[in-house]
Amino acid sequence: MDIFRTIPDVRAASRTIRSDGKRLGFVPTMGALHDGHLSLVRAARTQCEAVAASIFVNPLQFGPNEDLEKYPRNFDRDCELLRNDSVDFIFAPSVEEMYPEGAVTHVTVEGLSDRLCGQSRPGHFRGVTTVVAKLFHIVEPDIAFFGQKDAAQLAIIRRMVRDLNFAVEIVACPIVREPDGLAMSSRNAYLSSKDRKAALALYRSLMEVQKLFQQGERNADVLMIAGRKAFMEGESARLDYLKIVHPDSLDSLTDVKETALAAVAGFVGTTRLIDNVLLRGEEVAVHSKATV
Ligand code: PAF
Repeated sequence: MDIFRTIPDVRAASRTIRSDGKRLGFVPTMGALHDGHLSLVRAARTQCEAVAASIFVNPLQFGPNEDLEKYPRNFDRDCELLRNDSVDFIFAPSVEEMYPEGAVTHVTVEGLSDRLCGQSRPGHFRGVTTVVAKLFHIVEPDIAFFGQKDAAQLAIIRRMVRDLNFAVEIVACPIVREPDGLAMSSRNAYLSSKDRKAALALYRSLMEVQKLFQQGERNADVLMIAGRKAFMEGESARLDYLKIVHPDSLDSLTDVKETALAAVAGFVGTTRLIDNVLLRGEEVAVHSKATV
């Protein structure tokens, strides 16, 4: 497995792979890898003959009072995990490599970027789309793999790819959960054992929404109120939002007629966590079940 630090090295490797007629799958990450990331790598492996991953903690997607400095970093362990999963190469650039002095160009998906986490974290999605656009230009993958846990990120990246005609297919992979339902996240590393229990508020709220939905409730307000109430049953978690939106446009819904996204964000101490479930007609969303 090669580890590249510079853009020309990655381009050369990617172009060699693709000129050999191999499809290149790409898993962009910020490191601190867990089974959720590895499930993306494995999905890439099944669909592509070569797999690349990036490890880059992107400063542009962190707000001034967020956890950029303390974001978990464990490069050697991450490399080991990716090597074990037969990744062909890793791109791990420096901040200067990605954002040289004077870089002022950004990519914004208007409207969508201000919804869900974009409302609570102004500028976050602009940072995500800017770095993902750059990574796509640098790595030139055929298929890129993203986790459904960041459902708003996924919708925004899909829109960017469509609007700007990127020649990359976006594949979404199911949320990977701990046995008790907590969605895997690099930020779970911040949680004490007490916080860990409090963090279940997110999953509990979504399960309440899903239960009512399965019982036939289609009014989004009723579903959201019940979900918020279930969230509040725990003591120490603080709700940021629980919303029911269209999974592509992220527009708020009043009635759930077709597929809807129930998305929740909350704080446990200073740790911000997100989770979601897809509500699909009569059927239960596959990724809402614990997949471990
Ligand atoms: O989902 C993430 O880890 C990040 O937002 C991403 C897509 C790697 C961009 O920095």
